[in-house]
Amino acid sequence: ITKERTMSKKAKLIVDGEEYEFPIVEGSEQEKGIDISSLRAESKLITLDNGFANTSTCQSGITFLNGEEGILRYRGIPIEELAANSNFLEVSYLLIYGNLPTPEEYHSFEKQITEHTLLREDLIKFYDGFPRDAHPMAVLGSIVSAISTFYQDGLDPKNKDQVDLSIIRLMAKLPTIAAYSYKTSIGQPKIYPTNDLDYCSNFLKMMFAVPSEEYEVVPEFVEALNLLLILHADHEQNCSTSTVRLIGSSQANLYASISGGINALWGPLHGGANQAVIEMLHEIHDNGGDVDKFIEMSKDKSNPFRLMGFGHRVYKNFDPRAKILKDACDKVLEKIGVSDPLLDIAKSLEEKALNDPYFQEKKLYPNVDFYSGIIYSALKIPTDMFTVMFAIGRLPGWIAHWKEMNENKGTKIGRPRQIYSGENLNHYVPMNQRDKKKAA
Ligand code: ACO
Repeated sequence: ITKERTMSKKAKLIVDGEEYEFPIVEGSEQEKGIDISSLRAESKLITLDNGFANTSTCQSGITFLNGEEGILRYRGIPIEELAANSNFLEVSYLLIYGNLPTPEEYHSFEKQITEHTLLREDLIKFYDGFPRDAHPMAVLGSIVSAISTFYQDGLDPKNKDQVDLSIIRLMAKLPTIAAYSYKTSIGQPKIYPTNDLDYCSNFLKMMFAVPSEEYEVVPEFVEALNLLLILHADHEQNCSTSTVRLIGSSQANLYASISGGINALWGPLHGGANQAVIEMLHEIHDNGGDVDKFIEMSKDKSNPFRLMGFGHRVYKNFDPRAKILKDACDKVLEKIGVSDPLLDIAKSLEEKALNDPYFQEKKLYPNVDFYSGIIYSALKIPTDMFTVMFAIGRLPGWIAHWKEMNENKGTKIGRPRQIYSGENLNHYVPMNQRDKKKAA
C-alpha cells in the first residue's frame, strides 16, 4: 500500500462539453488506475462495470498477479519458490502477517494453532442436525458462522488481541470442522485432533482414521496436500475474497465474514469448479473418452456446457498454479503408485483445447482447478470435499485481506451504486383490481 503513488499525469473525462480531471495512481508493479473517487461529487455521473472487470475496489499489498504474463507472487515471493520450498502454515503466516516467519515466530504460530484444534462439544452436536447427504460446503459455512456464538467476547474487529485469537482459532478449527462434516456424511465416528502431528497430517488423520485401527500418515500425501493448499492460499480480489472484504467492511466479525467467503466459493464458476472438472472428466471417460465431442460442445453457444477448469477472468496466459499442478500430478501419482485414466483424458483435453482456434482466440488456458481434482482423488479425498479443501487452502488469504482492510484507516463500507432500469413512478393497485389492470 505504501508503495502506491499518485502520478503527475491526469485522466480527462469530457461529458457534454464539461471537463473533469482525475488523478492516476500507480502500484508497485506499475499497473495504473484512474482514481475516480470524486467522480460523482463533481459530475453526478457513476460508472457501470459488469462483474467489476475493470474496477479495483482497494489497494492491497498481499498478492501480485499478472494475468498476461502468468505471474503470481505472495508478498513479492513467486508462487514457484513457495511451492518448491515452503509449507502451508509458513505460507499462511507470510500472507497474514506480511513476512516469512523467523523460527521462533513459526513455532509459536504452529503451537498456538495446534492447541486450538478442538471443537467445543456443544458445537459438535450441531452436526446431528444436518441431513446425512448435506453438501459439506453448506456444513462448513454454517459451522463457521455458528462458531461466533461460542466466542462472543472475542468478536471485535478493532481489538488486535481478539483478532489475533480469532485468526488462530479459525486456522486451527477449519480442518477439524471439514473432517467432521465428512465423517458425519459417511456415518463414522469423529476423530479428535492429534497434537503431535503437523497441520496436514492431522487433517488427513481426522479424515481417514477410524478408532478401531492405527492410522499411519503417508508422507507423500502430506507433501501433496501442502502443495495444493499453498497454491490455493490467495488470489487477490477473486469472488470469495471480495465477498469477505465486503462483509467485513460493515465491521462484521471475522467468522461472519469468512462464512460468507465459503458460500461464495461454493459456486461452480469459482471454487466449485474443481468438483465440476472431475465430474466432467468422469463423464468423458464414461462416454468412451471422446474428448473432441466435449470440446465442440463447449464451443457451441446454444449449449450451456463449458469446459470446466478452463478460462480465467484474470489469466489470459497459463495459470502458473496449473503448470505446477500438472507436473505434480505425474509425480504424486507415481510416488503413491496410483494410475488414473482421468489424467490421460485431462492431458488430451488440454492439448486439443490449446491447439483449437476458439480457445486460442479467447485466451482460454487451464486454471488451477483443472489438475487439482486429480491429485485430491489420488489422496482419496471424495469429490464433494474438493471445494472444502479449496476453502481450507484459501482461509489464510481471506484472513489476510480482512485484516488488511480493517487495519486500513481509509476503508469505507462497501456500497456499490446501480443504474436503475426499472419502472418509472407507478402506483399501488388494490389486489382486487389487479387482474382487471392486466386485462386492460
Ligand atoms: N469453455 C468454453 N468457453 C469458455 C470458457 C470455457 N471454460 N470460459 C470462457 N469461455 C468463453 C465464453 O463463452 C466467452 O465467449 P464469448 O466471448 O464468445 O461470449 C469468452 O470465453 C469469455 O468468457 P467470459 O465468461 O466472458 O469470461 P469471464 O472472465 O466472465 O469468466 C470464468 C471466467 C468464469 C472462469 C469462465 O472462464 C468459466 O466459466 N470457466 C469454467 C469454470 C471454471 O473453470 N472456473 C474456475 C475459475 S478459477 C477459480 O475460481 C479458482
